[in-house]
Amino acid sequence: MRIAFLYEHPTWSDQLLLVLQRRIPGIVPVNVAELRFDTDANSCEFSVAINRINIMPSADRLPQVVFQTQHYLNWLEQSGARVINGSRAHAIGSSKAMQNGVFSSLNLAYPNGIAIYRQEDAMDAAKQIGYPVIIKPNIGGSGSGIGLYENRSELEQAVKFKALDLGVDRTGIVQQYIRSDGFVYRVEVLGDALFYSIKQPLVAGEFNYCAADGCSTDEPKQVVNVEQPAREGGDLDFRRINGAGGIQTHNPAPTILNNVIRIIKASGADFGGVEYFMDTDTGQPCYYDFNPYSNFVSDGEKLLGFSPEQRFADFVCRILNIDC
Ligand SMILES: Nc1ncnc2c1ncn2[C@@H]1O[C@H](COP(=O)(O)OP(=O)(O)O)[C@@H](O)[C@H]1O
Ligand SMILES: [Mg+2]
Repeated sequence: MRIAFLYEHPTWSDQLLLVLQRRIPGIVPVNVAELRFDTDANSCEFSVAINRINIMPSADRLPQVVFQTQHYLNWLEQSGARVINGSRAHAIGSSKAMQNGVFSSLNLAYPNGIAIYRQEDAMDAAKQIGYPVIIKPNIGGSGSGIGLYENRSELEQAVKFKALDLGVDRTGIVQQYIRSDGFVYRVEVLGDALFYSIKQPLVAGEFNYCAADGCSTDEPKQVVNVEQPAREGGDLDFRRINGAGGIQTHNPAPTILNNVIRIIKASGADFGGVEYFMDTDTGQPCYYDFNPYSNFVSDGEKLLGFSPEQRFADFVCRILNIDC
């Protein structure tokens, strides 16, 4: 069995790759950032591929990598490879519209949304949903392109100047704004089991709650590490470049964990994470984001009390039924 490990972000994959290479000798790293492939199905050398690609756009990456990755996953499957977190999971991960489709098909609460591709259609969509609205690209990640519009005139201005950011494929969603208890919750699962779960306090005007280092899509901001405030005169921590301060672990209620597992399965994924709010208008969880990759929380071992890389490797060995 020849196994590929698909990745694109060195910072998020270094550690995991080391662990996988130690435990699965011969595993082949495939960096999609430089992906070229012979399209002959007979040339497919892999029987299994572990897909851990985050297709989030970033300043130093060509947007086409998003689409090249989708072609590659489709081609791998077409060529007979088993892809862990395959093309369907990847497609849903890159479509806020499909994510809403999954949540609603499972009768779970989610922010009402209308998918658009023309900027001017945002006006009618927002009218139908009711202000305030959130507008986000289908292919987002780390809060990229997300905007909050409090009222009609704010949105009108944005539309007039074609200022909505609908991302690399220029499609997006107009979404109901959810009032919450002030936290972003994220539950990660490996198959049927909880991997870990974290919550982060919301910061006004901030949409990036990526819990790993190095996932800002914008110019790095310099922020004091909230866990270890800077000493006077120095020691600024450059790692926290998003809203990801104050991360805590938390135990999701059994029904929430069960619903996350249902979302992962319905999305055709083997592992992944789901984000939700506790909606203060309904008192219920409101699911709004599915991420088929897990970039792991920073300082995972310290925060979680176990090595996320080793646990991920255990999971891979188990589902491939190999002794490693
Ligand atoms: N419908 C919404 N109502 C209120 N806040 C939202 C809504 N959708 C997203 N947000 C805020 O934006 C952040 C990023 O949204 P998300 O859908 O997770 O995008 P991304 O794919 O970039 O992570 C969320 O963590 C939350 O803080
Ligand atoms: Mg998110």
